[in-house]
Amino acid sequence: MAQVSLKDVTKIFGENIKAVDNISLGIENKELMVLVGPSGCGKSTTLRIIAGLENATKGDVYIGPERVNDIPAKDRNIAMVFQSYALYPHMTSFENMSFGLKLKHYPRTEINRRVKEAAKILSIEHLLNRRPRELSGGERQRIAVGRAIVRKPLVFLFDEPLSNLDAKLRLQMRTELNKLHLRLQTTMIYVTHDQVEAMTMGDRIAVLCDGILQQLDKPSAIYDHPINKFVAGFIGSPPMNFMQGRIIKKDGHLYFDEGSAQLKLVAETYNKMLAYADQEVCLGIRAEDIYDRLFVSDAPAENIIRVTCEIVEPMGSEVYLHLNTGRHAFIARVGAHDQPSVGQDLELVFDMSKVHFFNQGTQETII
Ligand SMILES: Nc1ncnc2c1ncn2[C@@H]1O[C@H](COP(=O)(O)OP(=O)(O)OP(=O)(O)O)[C@@H](O)[C@H]1O
Ligand SMILES: [Mg+2]
Repeated sequence: MAQVSLKDVTKIFGENIKAVDNISLGIENKELMVLVGPSGCGKSTTLRIIAGLENATKGDVYIGPERVNDIPAKDRNIAMVFQSYALYPHMTSFENMSFGLKLKHYPRTEINRRVKEAAKILSIEHLLNRRPRELSGGERQRIAVGRAIVRKPLVFLFDEPLSNLDAKLRLQMRTELNKLHLRLQTTMIYVTHDQVEAMTMGDRIAVLCDGILQQLDKPSAIYDHPINKFVAGFIGSPPMNFMQGRIIKKDGHLYFDEGSAQLKLVAETYNKMLAYADQEVCLGIRAEDIYDRLFVSDAPAENIIRVTCEIVEPMGSEVYLHLNTGRHAFIARVGAHDQPSVGQDLELVFDMSKVHFFNQGTQETII
């Protein structure tokens, strides 16, 4: 069992490719931490630095109390599962899973015991005599996880282990990895670019962009209180809607002037937003905080925005409406019974107690 921490870690490839930019990050004992961010943001590099497969240009890496910068990968007691699985094609599943232990001269009975135990946990007992090419993608993935489990590492590292699987299998394996984490009670660091995976798996999530740690918190905290516009737009599906506009003051109240509509800010935000009067800001609102006026009989007139419906996407239990104000396109998530026709004009209600505002210059969250 172990904590992992990074202190001011930077990785520069070649002359000036800054893959990781001064990241400090603490992962608690037994925690499942997810590193998430778009392609190229430095997730794999960060993980590889923890594993010892890559050296940090600057900064310190600790596993437990020990600084491990100078300890080679094989002595760090960490197991990594890669996107490609990296199984040896000429070995059976049993041989693949036991290979690492064999190299370390574990006794045969201990090897057999550990492989059997891991195979049982992963329900792969019947696959132990097959070679990788005789296995499906999901089965290979399990063998790769099994190979990590038998080592009883201090920390598991996963680098996009599910991205080669089809959507349904991914969902299933996601749940299984969650269960595995509960069962093994071991520290896990899980890398993905899929924010849904991050939200559903992480005890906490670290959101990265351009090698920089943007925010580190529980999934719900990141969803409800994103620190900047990047995090707000990255976490959540469909993504948060953004609209550029101006804050105006009228009759002692503040309004967001979208261009075609003016939306009244709730009183609680007055003090904070007053500093932005007559300035451009960006409004952010999630699709579930927008309602069709037809179904909100008591909606205040100053929360209403008129739009044209451009696309209707029925999702089964709900419907995504793609709407346009003439100046901004956005998405509302409404009930399954609400299916306007394409081209129809609608009135939408914004829950103004749920909107965010972002500073146009810094992109940081104001509210
Ligand atoms: N060995 C290398 N040499 C030079 N540049 C590299 C090397 N490895 C990674 N990079 C660069 O460092 C940056 C971060 O790469 P990294 O693989 O960590 O991204 P990632 O977040 O894992 O992306 P993805 O989601 O696509 O896997 C990228 O710009 C990448 O091109
Ligand atoms: Mg990667």
